[in-house]
Amino acid sequence: MFKKLNILDEKDKHLRKISVDAKLPLKKEYRELIQRMIDELTYSQIDELATKYDLRPGMGLAFPQLGINERIIVIVHEVEPQKFDNYVVINPRIISSSSEMIAAEAGEGCLSVNRDVEGHIKRNARVTVEGYDMDGNLIRIRAREELSIAFQHEIDHLNGILFYDRIDPNKKFYTEQELRLI
Ligand code: NI
Repeated sequence: MFKKLNILDEKDKHLRKISVDAKLPLKKEYRELIQRMIDELTYSQIDELATKYDLRPGMGLAFPQLGINERIIVIVHEVEPQKFDNYVVINPRIISSSSEMIAAEAGEGCLSVNRDVEGHIKRNARVTVEGYDMDGNLIRIRAREELSIAFQHEIDHLNGILFYDRIDPNKKFYTEQELRLI
């Protein structure tokens, strides 16, 4: 039976803490929680299920959003209609990034931010992320475009940063000439 996660709101103090490394291999309780995160993120991107369970669409979650300040992120990326790639990365680090910057044209959203926040956020167009899988094996992921933004957004959560912290108050929006908008 599907049971919704308790995702904390932006006002919760867990979202502003710097998280600590998770211990590997991951304990059973965390593996089960990660499966629930994958399920909920997947359902949230399938219209019929999103409506049925009253889920706001989202492609990523980080452990601090569930009240656990440990460095674990989950991303469910729709690669073609209704086909999803899942990423679970423990203790992720960005080991290289492109100099090219992009921004999501519609801005970013977050399952902990229950309001619209307008503005473009400059992100690296490509990043390479290194971390561990749940069994403690070293993994490396090359992410570009939307997926690159998702990794940067989720890793920010591990450092107590919310997406709107990165909106420049003096320049909320960029033109296509200034920044590639995706
Ligand atoms: Ni978020």
